[in-house]
Amino acid sequence: MADYEHSTYGDRIASVYDQFTSHSPVTRFTDATVEFLASIAGKRRVLELGIGTGRIALPLVAKGLKVFGIDASEKMVEKMRAKPGGDAIPVVFGNFADVKIGGQFSLIYVVFSTFFALLTQEEQVQCLQRVARHLTPEGTFVMEAFVPDPSRFDRGQRVGALDVGTDRVRLEVTQHDPSTQSIRSAHVELSESGSIVLYPVRLRYAGPAELDLMARLAGMRLRARYGGWNREPFSAASQSHVSVYELIAAPAPKSPARKSASHRRRK
Ligand SMILES: C[S@@+](CC[C@H](N)C(=O)[O-])C[C@H]1O[C@@H](n2cnc3c(N)ncnc32)[C@H](O)[C@@H]1O
Repeated sequence: MADYEHSTYGDRIASVYDQFTSHSPVTRFTDATVEFLASIAGKRRVLELGIGTGRIALPLVAKGLKVFGIDASEKMVEKMRAKPGGDAIPVVFGNFADVKIGGQFSLIYVVFSTFFALLTQEEQVQCLQRVARHLTPEGTFVMEAFVPDPSRFDRGQRVGALDVGTDRVRLEVTQHDPSTQSIRSAHVELSESGSIVLYPVRLRYAGPAELDLMARLAGMRLRARYGGWNREPFSAASQSHVSVYELIAAPAPKSPARKSASHRRRK
């Protein structure tokens, strides 16, 4: 794994991230994402895992929310800093599996399948455990992620065209290991001038049922699952989901006084 670190994806793609994602179906829903998150953010602080170039954080700040971020890539965050209001968002640099940030948040969120950037199940569970510790008692954790579809791969691989121009093409070259639920991928840009640029991505995916179980292990339960940011119903046909988790309330301790009162009544 030494050739691929937590910062690799962001550092390699930062200069073109906003341009690439402006063509992505995910960014068509940026406004809906912001509306959804603002509607459940509560009045306290908000934390984004993998804040990147501020696609979601900046409009949330514009709505008056106090947003914090964690990211491994300084180059991605530099892009956010260069945008209006971007230098006012506090960002902690590091692996978001550690959630190394002080205080509690009424909303913690991770969008665009960024949770799958944690490359082992252990790291994903650790992340959820730390998230739970940083939620206020009524706080929520929101995740947007794709629903895994192993049938996309033929004998463990896939090559697809992302963009085909007259003097430039972008391809997606992917290997899939179902035993570890891992994907090694690169977006490859080939141009007429002879330049070749690689943007590597590695993911460890998990389906909704596994995510719910990992959340349970971390002391959270599913409050709601939608098929999209406009609260579309989630169904077997959904290709992605927006899942809202809340803390499982600790069982109220048995009160000795009430116990003895009912004991007395039975006598
Ligand atoms: C796909 S981008 C999403 C950025 C932004 N949330 C958005 O929706 O546009 C993923 C971001 O997560 C960051 N990231 C990936 N793995 C990370 C990790 N383990 N710890 C912290 N940041 C990570 C990347 O540097 C990048 O900025």
